[in-house]
Amino acid sequence: MSTAEIRRRFTSHFADNPTLPHENVRSASLLLDDPNLLFVNAGMVPFKPYFLGQATPPYPRATSVQKCIRTPDIEEVGKTTRHGTFFEMCGNFSFGDYFKEGAITLAWDLVTKPIADGGFGFDESVLYPSVLDGDDEAVALWKRISGLPDDRIVRLPPSENYWSMGVPGPGGPCSEILIDRGPEFGADRDWDAGDRYLEFWNLVFMQDDISAARSKYDVDISGALPQKSIDTGLGLERVAYLLQGKSNMYETDVVFPVIEKAEELTGKKYGASDSVESWEDDVRFRVVADHIRSSMMLIGDGVTPGNEGRGYVLRRLLRRAIRNVRLLGYADPALPELMPVSRDRMGETYTELHSDWDRIIRVANAEEETFRKTLTSGTQIFDLAAGEVRKGGGTVLSGAEAFQLHDTYGFPIDLTLEMASEAGLTVDEAGFRGLMAEQRERAKADAKAKKGGHADLTVYREILDANGPTEWLAYETLTTESAPLALLQEGRAVNALGNGEVGELVLNRTPFYAESGGQVADAGIIEFDGGRFEVLDVQRPVKGLVVHQVRVVDGEYTGAKGDLHAQVDPDWRLGARQAHSGTHVVHAALREVLGPTALQSGSYNRPGYLRLDFGWTTGLSAGQLQELEEVSNNALRADLPVSWDYMTLSQAKEWGAIALFGETYDDSKVRVVEIGGPWSRELCGGTHVSHSSQIGSIVINGESSVGSGNRRIEAFTGIEGFRYLARERDIVGQLTDVLKATQPSELVPRVTDLLERLKSAEKEIEKVRVAQLLASAGSIADSAVDVDGVAVVAARAAGAGGGDVRTLVTDVRARFGDRPAVVVVIGDADGKVSIVTATNDGARAKGLSANDLLRGLSPVLGGKGGGKDDLAQGGGTEIAAVDEALALVPKLVAGA
Ligand code: ALA
Repeated sequence: MSTAEIRRRFTSHFADNPTLPHENVRSASLLLDDPNLLFVNAGMVPFKPYFLGQATPPYPRATSVQKCIRTPDIEEVGKTTRHGTFFEMCGNFSFGDYFKEGAITLAWDLVTKPIADGGFGFDESVLYPSVLDGDDEAVALWKRISGLPDDRIVRLPPSENYWSMGVPGPGGPCSEILIDRGPEFGADRDWDAGDRYLEFWNLVFMQDDISAARSKYDVDISGALPQKSIDTGLGLERVAYLLQGKSNMYETDVVFPVIEKAEELTGKKYGASDSVESWEDDVRFRVVADHIRSSMMLIGDGVTPGNEGRGYVLRRLLRRAIRNVRLLGYADPALPELMPVSRDRMGETYTELHSDWDRIIRVANAEEETFRKTLTSGTQIFDLAAGEVRKGGGTVLSGAEAFQLHDTYGFPIDLTLEMASEAGLTVDEAGFRGLMAEQRERAKADAKAKKGGHADLTVYREILDANGPTEWLAYETLTTESAPLALLQEGRAVNALGNGEVGELVLNRTPFYAESGGQVADAGIIEFDGGRFEVLDVQRPVKGLVVHQVRVVDGEYTGAKGDLHAQVDPDWRLGARQAHSGTHVVHAALREVLGPTALQSGSYNRPGYLRLDFGWTTGLSAGQLQELEEVSNNALRADLPVSWDYMTLSQAKEWGAIALFGETYDDSKVRVVEIGGPWSRELCGGTHVSHSSQIGSIVINGESSVGSGNRRIEAFTGIEGFRYLARERDIVGQLTDVLKATQPSELVPRVTDLLERLKSAEKEIEKVRVAQLLASAGSIADSAVDVDGVAVVAARAAGAGGGDVRTLVTDVRARFGDRPAVVVVIGDADGKVSIVTATNDGARAKGLSANDLLRGLSPVLGGKGGGKDDLAQGGGTEIAAVDEALALVPKLVAGA
């Protein structure tokens, strides 16, 4: 029975049930918004609020086939019959409707109904229901409903038959249907044997509210759920391989085609024989098939490869797939070959795989390209290190080596562990983690030092406790009269600051914007009676407290007589508002040009300049950059209104506001800034212009990679945009003058023409130079001296490189005809020495060899080289020794 048919029968059994119709619910995304889960890992996850009574279910019963990802057992994939990182869970759910009896009846019915009648047709004689030991109610129900004798109902401990999410949430005792696959898979009634009694359907009797979970079954129950409910999960892959007569989930009609394609690529056969090597290859085939599918589904749901969280899981899956194909012997890019096969199988159900294919395969291919580079450089380093360890008789790769592989070559630790284990080594993981922690500490300390803040926040907390939060007026005004509350120097309270000295000033109220959300701190001055501070930086070291870093630029501060006058530099603030609103505009434009998966991962903006990092794997083309600039500036020209409002986080999400990862917001209310209504809605605490045209200009001047799947856009805003363009215009003007062009548009053809002419002129010069060199051949030949009847030439060719020297030498040699001759010419070009030695027939008859001569001369020139008896060529570094080498030639000939 095909997987599609199994899915259809399951859904129809519940959705079309005449007495208990279930709502047919589409699979949710793998990335459901649950802070406790990286990925949806069970069919019940989307229904969690219904079980907990946090939301009212719109239907009393539901059925679904849910995409799931589970990666804790990633190492087991391919080694067992049933570990897959991606799987589909068929489920039926009751929210306070039927309970144990209904769940058991519905399941048993579908499992045992003959295939001809729309069921799965499993033979009762091989089925064993299991229950939680002590759940007598379930035992009685099973006996009555299935008619099976008591000893066929298996009582198991909580580790097997209690189910929770492994995190706070709903849970309860469960009951599984096991199938006996026969004695070849394990001993009789050995329930733990795994492969013999395979469970394929889990019925969870949801009744407990779990407040803490140390594992799936080791939990703290805080009370009963508001109503008893049912959650079941049938493994689609398991049923498929059972009904298709296969022995594991990698050989089903949906997964196996990828293995077949891999066979074609690698020339290896899956399941070839029983040898250990072929078993290892089979594991690799299965890993490839499993991981290709999982990563495709993850990318489909919007994950991009990265170094943390979901992105890291995806990266690991992709890289393991790529590496296993390589280990099978296929070295070319594999994803473009394999992933489409998986898409064609999965795309029948998940049609978005087809419509979104361009993006999916682009993300996958980019990761493969990056990883191939990493592999090439890192594998060499790894092999060297492993070789050293073995040579020293050891078996452990040091933490420092693993760290270097990670830090310099981007080798994830898992890869190092895997490669080490394949090489029969282990890795000092503790050492590695220690070094990683040290690096993180260093980075943190660096970041702190840059901010000029103090690691110890106690002093700020004390100020906050004594005075309450700073009255923060940055949204309302640029000037305030403020009372000083504290003055610090090097983290200690002081009363005075001399002229030129720097300290930290806390006021009861301030109009200064403290750096946050990517926007830099305001600049400005704070006047006191008899002088003023310049504001160098503004930070919020603890929530609610604004601290100004100030320098006395006028007078001397000896404590305040009356209020201080705080004044933000209005030009600075305008520039910052332009840049911050500009960042939102570029972000929205980016999503318009690249699609909604282009999401900001970081930003920085200061007057005149903005920088926006976003998750994207490939560089933007010139065309895309142009379009980005165009869309951005059109948004400025459209003079879109900019407004902001406070709302709850859930309201903001409903509104479609983009909440950026890593930013923290007040729990109760968040601030949403919108530009042009829904065109741009972001959670943001920054200061903004009130109409987009006030941004003035957005001039993109850079696009680059910032590593780990992120790109960076840089742009000038406001007057800086115009200044940047003016500078470029000035350069163009100067070039136009220099090149005597009448129009800037003539520049490109003119420069192209110049470059071409320069190239042909260089060629011409080269010809002349060679001709000149060869013209000297006659006089060089004439300089020959006679040594024992051999004409010996030893000459220097200034400025000639290896090829020229060789041409010259053969030319000179030809001039001697039958007369025995030895020719040595040493050239020097670009600080290097080139030497060519030659003999003719006559000289060789006298036992002279060009190669011997060269070997005699090379040490003098600090170099090496070689050749044959008739011609030899070498190089060296000792230009100063050329004359000495030349003088040696007649002596070598005489001595030969
Ligand atoms: N939620 C249950 C499971 O995942 C059905 O096994």
